[in-house]
Amino acid sequence: MKILHISDLHFPKKLSLFSLRGKAIVGYLSYRLRRKSKHPLVLISAMVEAISKLEYDALVISGDLTNVSHPGEFENAKEILKPLLTDKTFLIPGNHDRYQKRAIGPNPLFEKTFSEWMGTSLDPNLYIRSKKIAGKVFIGWDSNFAIPRITANGYVAPEVITKTVQSIEEPYILVCHHPLWNPKSEIESRGHRMLNRAEVIDKLKANPPQLYLHGHTHTNWVKLPGVRAPFPIVNSASSTRLSDRSHECGFHIIEVGKPIQYRRFIYSEDQFIETNPIFYEESEGVI
Ligand SMILES: [Fe+2]
Ligand SMILES: [Fe+2]
Repeated sequence: MKILHISDLHFPKKLSLFSLRGKAIVGYLSYRLRRKSKHPLVLISAMVEAISKLEYDALVISGDLTNVSHPGEFENAKEILKPLLTDKTFLIPGNHDRYQKRAIGPNPLFEKTFSEWMGTSLDPNLYIRSKKIAGKVFIGWDSNFAIPRITANGYVAPEVITKTVQSIEEPYILVCHHPLWNPKSEIESRGHRMLNRAEVIDKLKANPPQLYLHGHTHTNWVKLPGVRAPFPIVNSASSTRLSDRSHECGFHIIEVGKPIQYRRFIYSEDQFIETNPIFYEESEGVI
């Protein structure tokens, strides 16, 4: 089973300020000024082309397809991803896909646009979604919630964790937007981290996933199984961002076997090329 994992695509889309409300106005202006140039169109095309040529069994996208959850951004994301959206694809939302009230409910924009690739719901009151791809179970969580302020925290309700560990009876891959662990050089700020990640890790111990795939912090890593989290934690964010001194960007192909094998691809001189993954022992970071 080969899993191609991309994340934090943040596809650019020019929006009229008149079509935005509340914090989306500030969020969009900040994106235009600070982040848009980091996600150039030429890199996005190269990523889609590279993925189209690679061999994989499942394509996982762990959220942040948009910037401020505008309807035009969702349509744009779907259009760009069209060649990659197949029955092998499994995706979940990131905090930027839940940015505005209309992206949360009762008929959320993410679900309206991508329900075909989100798997089936295991509980009508909780976000636990499941999809079997090439015989492997993928579970998706939504760690995002409605926040009026410009913060990017995550949270997973204890009921979601408990129901997941109690109801999944075979080896599974868990996909969620927020990291559960960070290297010491990439500690999350108070306004950016998953608030209850120690609780998530402790509860998952009852039935740990084979892999935890996430994004949110825009730099790549693989945390190897450790004492607190006895499973690998893989960050493939951001797959559409230019690398620089503090951001190691790209995507992974993970071959789930014994042992699990990792390949990493980065953008370099107009194309994606293979390079070394970045491995950490659990003790080199924090939960
Ligand atoms: Fe992101
Ligand atoms: Fe994020």
